[in-house]
Amino acid sequence: MIHHLTRGRIPDHPHTVFKPDGNLAFEHCFTRQGFDGAYTILYHRRPPHWVEEETDLGLHPGWAAPAWDGALRRRHFLTGELPAGGTPCLGRLLLLANPDVGIWLARATKSEPTLVANADGDELTFVHQGSGRVLSPLGALSFGPGDYVFVPRGLPHRWLLDEPAHLLVLEGRSYLDVPRQFRSPAGQLTMYAPYAHHDFREPEWPDGGAEALDAPRRLLVKRHDRITAFEMSHDPFDVVGWEGQVWPFVFPIRAFKPHIGRVHLPPTIHTTFAGGGFVVCSFVPRMVDFDDNAVPCPYPHSSPDCDEVLFYVEGNFTSRRGVGPGSVSLHPTGLPHGPHPGTYKASIGTRRTDELAVMVDTFKTLLPTEHAQRIEDDGYNRSWAAATGGPGG
Ligand SMILES: [Fe+2]
Repeated sequence: MIHHLTRGRIPDHPHTVFKPDGNLAFEHCFTRQGFDGAYTILYHRRPPHWVEEETDLGLHPGWAAPAWDGALRRRHFLTGELPAGGTPCLGRLLLLANPDVGIWLARATKSEPTLVANADGDELTFVHQGSGRVLSPLGALSFGPGDYVFVPRGLPHRWLLDEPAHLLVLEGRSYLDVPRQFRSPAGQLTMYAPYAHHDFREPEWPDGGAEALDAPRRLLVKRHDRITAFEMSHDPFDVVGWEGQVWPFVFPIRAFKPHIGRVHLPPTIHTTFAGGGFVVCSFVPRMVDFDDNAVPCPYPHSSPDCDEVLFYVEGNFTSRRGVGPGSVSLHPTGLPHGPHPGTYKASIGTRRTDELAVMVDTFKTLLPTEHAQRIEDDGYNRSWAAATGGPGG
């Protein structure tokens, strides 16, 4: 929820008679936190709740049960080894989950043929590869590599791909938003925030309104990880205008303005989004710590309250060997983790890093599914023992 927007035609006052083309328009109040949070009001030609048919399609085809499996260990999953195919939403696979967040991965090759809505949570998709558009009754958003795409919980939308896409999807099961500490009491992003309002790409409103987006009339809603298919009685994008603060957006990861320090700052200084029970951090190319004696490489650390997931995008990951673009590491609570042998010492005197990565820190234990187990690099937990740099790396 970034700031207030207005698109298309709206009435002089909410909840009053509005006849954009001579016929009464129907309000659709899309609200958060009950009626206490941010909201958007859409103006439809017909009531948005009219459906002709509903069908239970069972569990999402990419869902699998998260489960404890064997020894506690640091883990490495190679998402590039997942089979390519399918669509961004129905074709995604659940890799890791806890009650607060689901971490899904899609290597989609086709556009979504239907509308979808995720009633289980807000969605933040990091586009590792691929480009296209996300269409919703609020307009069209274009995306490309390095973009975060945010879609609010429950909003019908459609993913159109221009090319195959490799997508990391974070599902915030209670909420996902800009961290509260980045806002002033007036709601504006503060001057200390690592981004500004104009860094967030807004939905574009087409000529002819959302009806010009040619929405399918089949809508798949995910709730309790099950899919219900609805056949709509009319165009669900029959929206003549809207105003409000709930809308899908794109935030390019390279627009993140990292804060650095004289000596190494903890990784949460890179917090970009916050959800219930987790944060999302962006590691982008930057100058590193500037004290003459600084050790820029991350220090070994134990964070016994957190599980830590890193999705590696590109660049030289100074602290890790054996990981590459598309790698996902999981460093669980209960174990220390840190740089690989040799990298700690080698970092002294460096002035910048070109790494690009997304981190998810969770408070509750993340459990893997069979989809993650199938792409696991089994040697990862012991990769620190193959020391070549000696103690102190
Ligand atoms: Fe860490």
